[in-house]
Amino acid sequence: MTNDRVKVLLIEDSPEDAHVMQDALAAASEPQFEVTWANRLSLGLEQLRGGGMDVILTDLDLPDSRGLNTLAAIRAQTDRHPIVVLTSSDNDQLAIQAVQQGAQDYLVKGYVQVYPSLLLRAMGYAIERNRMAQREKELTGAVAAAALAEGQRAAELDRAYQELKQTQALLVQAEKMAAVGQLASGIAHEVKNPLNIILQSINYLEPELKPEQAQQQEILNVMREAVTAANTIIRGLLDFSKPTPLELKPAPLRGVIEASLVLVRKELDARGIRLAHEIPADLPPVLLDENQMKQVFLNLFLNAIHAMPQGGQLTVRAAVQDLAKPGDGVGKRASDVFRIGDRAVACEVADTGTGIPKELLPKVFTPFFTTKAPGEGVGLGLSITKTLIDGHRGLIQIASEEGRGTTVTLLLRLAPAGGR
Ligand SMILES: Nc1ncnc2c1ncn2[C@@H]1O[C@H](COP(=O)(O)OP(=O)(O)OP(=O)(O)O)[C@@H](O)[C@H]1O
Ligand SMILES: [Mg+2]
Repeated sequence: MTNDRVKVLLIEDSPEDAHVMQDALAAASEPQFEVTWANRLSLGLEQLRGGGMDVILTDLDLPDSRGLNTLAAIRAQTDRHPIVVLTSSDNDQLAIQAVQQGAQDYLVKGYVQVYPSLLLRAMGYAIERNRMAQREKELTGAVAAAALAEGQRAAELDRAYQELKQTQALLVQAEKMAAVGQLASGIAHEVKNPLNIILQSINYLEPELKPEQAQQQEILNVMREAVTAANTIIRGLLDFSKPTPLELKPAPLRGVIEASLVLVRKELDARGIRLAHEIPADLPPVLLDENQMKQVFLNLFLNAIHAMPQGGQLTVRAAVQDLAKPGDGVGKRASDVFRIGDRAVACEVADTGTGIPKELLPKVFTPFFTTKAPGEGVGLGLSITKTLIDGHRGLIQIASEEGRGTTVTLLLRLAPAGGR
């Protein structure tokens, strides 16, 4: 590249789409992009002949060329520029063909509008990937030259080259996964809210039904099940694709717990589970991310409920605790989360359910460990919960006795103003 600015040739006939791309590129600071816009292929090729371009971003359907022909025409003129192809729909087949025929990457325009950073990523990767491909070509040349001179050395070089190619393929795959993950979490976030609205609406409609409206009741039940299933998937996606950035703020634990209890109230009533909560009104604020912590409590409450199919008692307690003695995660080691003498809020979620057999207790935080029937549990609840608590620099402990119930204890950080 001639200087630090990356020169982008944008070939795109729609002025609106061109603006979206220009805006997305203008947002980048490292590197900075300088965009030259051509609204048809012939003009783009002319610009290219003029020299000075680093990367090409092109729509496939243009007034003077359509589909993969556009790509072929550009490749016929240059084999050294990275090309990122823009499509208007998520057409996998076309994308694969485009990449096979020499594009470094492809992007769906609509995604760029919502997630401009996707474009920046794709551009960066395309340039990087192209640089690697160019180097490969040099290497291949070197391999051939060496073969003439010295057969054995050539074989070695060839092996190194194969390894390089394999590593590169893995890299490309990893990059793609990261981009998909980013996209998935963005979409999941937007789907979560409407799902919650539907769920709340169902809860609102239900008491309005008259006893003779059994069929309507049945429909509401089916709706709730479907929404709940979708919610579970979205939740899993969110937690796995990429943890959402943690927003720690001093907040009252009581409000978070109550908000989570609302979500399980029906299940508690349906199974005749008594609820006891002892959360002092004057409990000092805790450092937490409210959304994540609601998820923590929801996971714990659901586990407790599942463990009490015949009813029982769910107890939620919270109190300030002085950590006077060393224990799991409390002490002087670098890996300890709390120091002796720290003050924390200890929050317990206890049930009187089936309990966990001793030999299974060490496994409960392992992802996908579940004793539930397929469809009833995926085994992610506690592992996600632990990840979230770790993110809060807190501790989670679980104690259980088979047949007598389970107690999960969370140790959470007091907000600084609260005394630390
Ligand atoms: N309160 C509890 N009482 C009895 N067993 C429990 C309790 N909490 C967790 N377990 C056991 O630990 C396992 C793992 O729990 P986890 O929440 O991670 O997954 P899950 O509940 O099976 O599925 P998911 O939460 O993903 O729907 C459970 O299948 C269950 O065997
Ligand atoms: Mg669970």
